[in-house]
Amino acid sequence: MAPKTLFGLLIFLILLVTSTAFSFLFQGFNNKESNFTLSGQSNIDQHRGILELTRRENNIFGHAFYNKPIKIRNASVPQTRVSSFSTCFVFSIVSLSSRPGGFGLAFTIAPKTNFPEAEGGHFLGLFNTFNDMNASNHILLVEFDTVNGYKDEIDTEGNHVGVNINGMNSTRAEAATFFEKGQKEEFNMEKADFVCAWIEYDGKTNILDVTIAPHLDPKPSQPLISQAIDIKSVMKESMYFGFSASTGKRKASSHYILGWSFSLNGVAPPLNASLLPKPPPKEKDPSSFPWVKVVISVLSALTFTLLCLLFFVTLYKRYTTFETLEDWEMDCPHRFRYRDLHLATKGFIESQLIGVGGFGSVYKGVLPSTGTEVAVKRIMRSPRQGMREFAAEIESLGRLRHKNLVNLQGWCKHKNYLLLIYDYIPNGSLDSLLINKNFALDWDQRFHILKGVAAGLLYLHEEWEQVVIHRDVKSSNILIDGDFNAHLGDFGLARLHSHDQVSHTTSVVGTIGYIAPELTRTGKSSTRSDVYAFGVLLLEVVAGTRPVSSSGQFFLVDWVLENRQLGQILEVVDPKLNSVYNEEEVELVLTLGLLCAQHKADYRPSMKQVVRYLNFDDPLPDITDWRHYDSQSSTASFGFYDARSTGKTTTSYSISSIGRTTMSIESGR
Ligand SMILES: *[C@@H]1O[C@H](CO)[C@@H](O)[C@H](O)[C@H]1NC(C)=O
Ligand SMILES: *[C@@H]1O[C@H](CO)[C@@H](O)[C@H](O)[C@H]1NC(C)=O
Ligand SMILES: *[C@@H]1O[C@H](CO)[C@@H](O)[C@H](O)[C@H]1NC(C)=O
Ligand SMILES: *[C@@H]1O[C@H](CO)[C@@H](O)[C@H](O)[C@H]1NC(C)=O
Ligand SMILES: *[C@@H]1O[C@H](CO)[C@@H](O)[C@H](O)[C@H]1NC(C)=O
Repeated sequence: MAPKTLFGLLIFLILLVTSTAFSFLFQGFNNKESNFTLSGQSNIDQHRGILELTRRENNIFGHAFYNKPIKIRNASVPQTRVSSFSTCFVFSIVSLSSRPGGFGLAFTIAPKTNFPEAEGGHFLGLFNTFNDMNASNHILLVEFDTVNGYKDEIDTEGNHVGVNINGMNSTRAEAATFFEKGQKEEFNMEKADFVCAWIEYDGKTNILDVTIAPHLDPKPSQPLISQAIDIKSVMKESMYFGFSASTGKRKASSHYILGWSFSLNGVAPPLNASLLPKPPPKEKDPSSFPWVKVVISVLSALTFTLLCLLFFVTLYKRYTTFETLEDWEMDCPHRFRYRDLHLATKGFIESQLIGVGGFGSVYKGVLPSTGTEVAVKRIMRSPRQGMREFAAEIESLGRLRHKNLVNLQGWCKHKNYLLLIYDYIPNGSLDSLLINKNFALDWDQRFHILKGVAAGLLYLHEEWEQVVIHRDVKSSNILIDGDFNAHLGDFGLARLHSHDQVSHTTSVVGTIGYIAPELTRTGKSSTRSDVYAFGVLLLEVVAGTRPVSSSGQFFLVDWVLENRQLGQILEVVDPKLNSVYNEEEVELVLTLGLLCAQHKADYRPSMKQVVRYLNFDDPLPDITDWRHYDSQSSTASFGFYDARSTGKTTTSYSISSIGRTTMSIESGR
């Protein structure tokens, strides 16, 4: 062998050593774990033989690097060029067909294999906000991104390929296209079954070529990117080669590598498509999986059954706990649904209770349909008979409307209860205001209240289509609103009379102290007996004293009359007024009270006349004409003794009113 040839062989051997040709080829990754450094969420799917960088799961990333660092340059000689390399790989991006995925995958050359401080999403698990684009990263990557969004002005295409150095700001980016027969063809990397990529770096010319295609053969003749790029400053002496991928907070795709070949200072060995593992199917929509369909149909069936059950339970509950209607009830516009009242009063709970009396309980409520405040009076009712007639009566009472009445809005029957729905009046009853030690109604307020009650009573007696006798005019039945207007309430006791009929009720109803004398003897209510009670009320409001003392020794009417006869009528005025009042008005009210509360019914004025007197429209008749009264000073009270001794009325101040009315209706008709 000639020494010249020997020398040539030596040169060749030296060249071979310095250029350190090196290559590998992975057609699938079965049993190749030992050849890789995996980090993050990446793993090798032994079943399919594919390298899985990320699952379709939000906010994760994964890396897979060839486990040995590859010596790419001699760093101790700054001028030494970076070795040429060539690589080819096949990847697959799988997302739901109905929803676009994210984020991306990158071929990565890095000085390390682990990036614990990196973020997912558009940082691909390699960088974070602080070290993005920092030259100390020493990372070169070729990204295959499917998401448009990060730094739109640079990476303009969602479906793009980019060359990046040290960060996510691409040195060069191109929409995903390939050249075939001289034609530029765009293709969607996410929709393609798989993508083949070739990356070649020429250490002599510093040109990086990137080529992609949706197939391995043939490799497109023209690269997508051909970029002059000096990577000397990026490359350390030894670098790890591999892949990174990430998913976003909301967008996620699975990223798979199916095969990979690499060569340093040479051409990457070709991958054989028929030997590569099959990528997982694209259609991963839940609906496309039979078992998901089964689960969904089972769930739907279950839901349907539950809904049916719920429906029947509700129906059953409504049927049993809520009312069943009789035919006639359908025609009652003032009938309320029990369900609404139950809701309005929160199920008649204690905290909604605003009053309790012999008649039952009164609850405050807010109607769910309109949001209006109401008072709901709940009364135990006697047997079913007579209900229809009672309802008819309530229906007609429900049509009464006056500003000085506590208007009855409606009614409802439920089991053994009768419920009456009234306007809610906030300030409470007149009697509670009169006896309140910490509060005094002034004279103007009292006079205004009395005029209001008179107006309400006049409406009942004469101004409505039928004569309505209240039968229980008393201070506790008068409610006062925020503007000190009087509202006469509880005319549930009232019996309806057509104008030409006379009442023949047998039971005596009313409250001690307000019961006209003739009532206890004849039991006959009339508008005049209401006037009597109103007369007592006039005196009560001026004097601030109950009409009868609880001992039964004191009678307001007698006391006022005595003082009047002694010429000192103003002596009876409520001391809480502090002598601040209009004398003329007070005298008028007291005198009118006596006039109304006189023994003989026929001599009492009508409510129309009362209203005229209160307005000073007519002068009061001369007191000397009241002869029948003068001689009856004790007879006026006789009726009460009579009533108490015969036991016809209860001694309680608040007699059960509605309950008795119901009874009287039931027995009377
Ligand atoms: C992969 O690892 C195995 C076992 O360590 C080794 O024999 C083989 O040469 C490696 N292959 C490559 C391409 O490095
Ligand atoms: C790097 O280059 C220097 C200077 O030419 C040389 O001495 C050294 O052996 C080289 N190192 C390698 C690993 O090739
Ligand atoms: C780049 O990173 C290095 C090392 O982490 C740090 O010292 C330097 O300040 C960083 N430079 C910039 C511009 O952030
Ligand atoms: C990103 O790249 C563009 C040009 O490609 C450059 O103008 C810009 O300054 C770069 N931004 C950063 C943060 O490096
Ligand atoms: C690819 O592999 C198949 C099966 O082993 C073989 O028949 C075929 O010739 C190979 N193709 C190439 C281009 O090597």
